[in-house]
Amino acid sequence: MKSHILGENRIHIERISQELLNNMGSTISFIKEIGEHILLGSGKLLRPLLFILSCKLLEYEEEHVYSLSTVFEYIHVASLLHDDVLDNAKTRRNKPSVNNKWGDHVAILEGDFFYSRSLRIAISTQNIRFLEKLTIATENMVEGQLMEILYSNNLSLTKEQYMDIIEKKTASLLSAACECAAIIAKAGTKKENALKNFGLNLGMAFQLVDDLLDYVSSEDIFGKPVGKDLKEGKVTLPLIYALQKMGAEDRRRIEQLFEEKRNCLNEHEYIIERVVQTDAISRTRKDALSFIKKAKESLSLFNNSPAKNALINLSNYIVQRDY
Ligand code: FPP
Ligand code: MG
Repeated sequence: MKSHILGENRIHIERISQELLNNMGSTISFIKEIGEHILLGSGKLLRPLLFILSCKLLEYEEEHVYSLSTVFEYIHVASLLHDDVLDNAKTRRNKPSVNNKWGDHVAILEGDFFYSRSLRIAISTQNIRFLEKLTIATENMVEGQLMEILYSNNLSLTKEQYMDIIEKKTASLLSAACECAAIIAKAGTKKENALKNFGLNLGMAFQLVDDLLDYVSSEDIFGKPVGKDLKEGKVTLPLIYALQKMGAEDRRRIEQLFEEKRNCLNEHEYIIERVVQTDAISRTRKDALSFIKKAKESLSLFNNSPAKNALINLSNYIVQRDY
């Protein structure tokens, strides 16, 4: 776990980490070995932490919340294992990706294991609405991921289409983590909706920052190679904004880069430099900030408390982070 997010959340993070290891038991020790490889990396544990802090916000203090929080990390990890196969990614969380280390078949099956385990833990609540939100979020993730594939190498992708993709593939799970806390706490429709919107807006900001860091971070800090989106033919908001300022020649060079699908390092570096030279990064950051503002506004319904403060601090961290 990286230090910045720890602070006031240290106790929660420690308990979540413990439960993540406890809950993935299997008679096949290989499942555990791979699970530990991915879970003991530099993951931020943002989704289970959001669930725990939302429970605290609602003064829902049942003992099972830490175990239940693992549902949201397991689904996230399942999606990353599959995503890395789709992207042929070599690195994840500052380590070799599972597909890189053990092959695609193992990564897919490990992802299936984590997804099934998350459902088994969720079923233990006997709460159908909790399960419903969770499965809808997963459907959204698959839809978002498929849309991303459909639109890859397509420079006509609009800002609205991009926002739709990131809402589905990323924000839906963060939103479900917060909303499910309200469901399990039986907090009522108003609070459910407030937490759902909080998570949704936070999730949008999170993915926007992820996408801008892909242009400006460094591999050591980010935990995965930078410039990866461009190499994968992935059009994200920084590129959409930059294209509005680029001339026909630059546009043609990007099109060629996407068409050839060759690993032409100099050309990638040139495009990244051109994107960073425009105002694309600051415009993307500004959009992330406005989502964070909306997220914080959703919390106005709740009285001040340490949990509310921690959620606000987490929101601020999302846009300030450099990894
Ligand atoms: C990482 O985003 C990937 C996602 C947010 C979602 C991936 C979703 C799926 C593979 C479908 C759902 C599957 C299951 C099993 C629940 P990114 O590619 O933008 O980030 P990256 O740069 O870290 O790869
Ligand atoms: Mg990816």
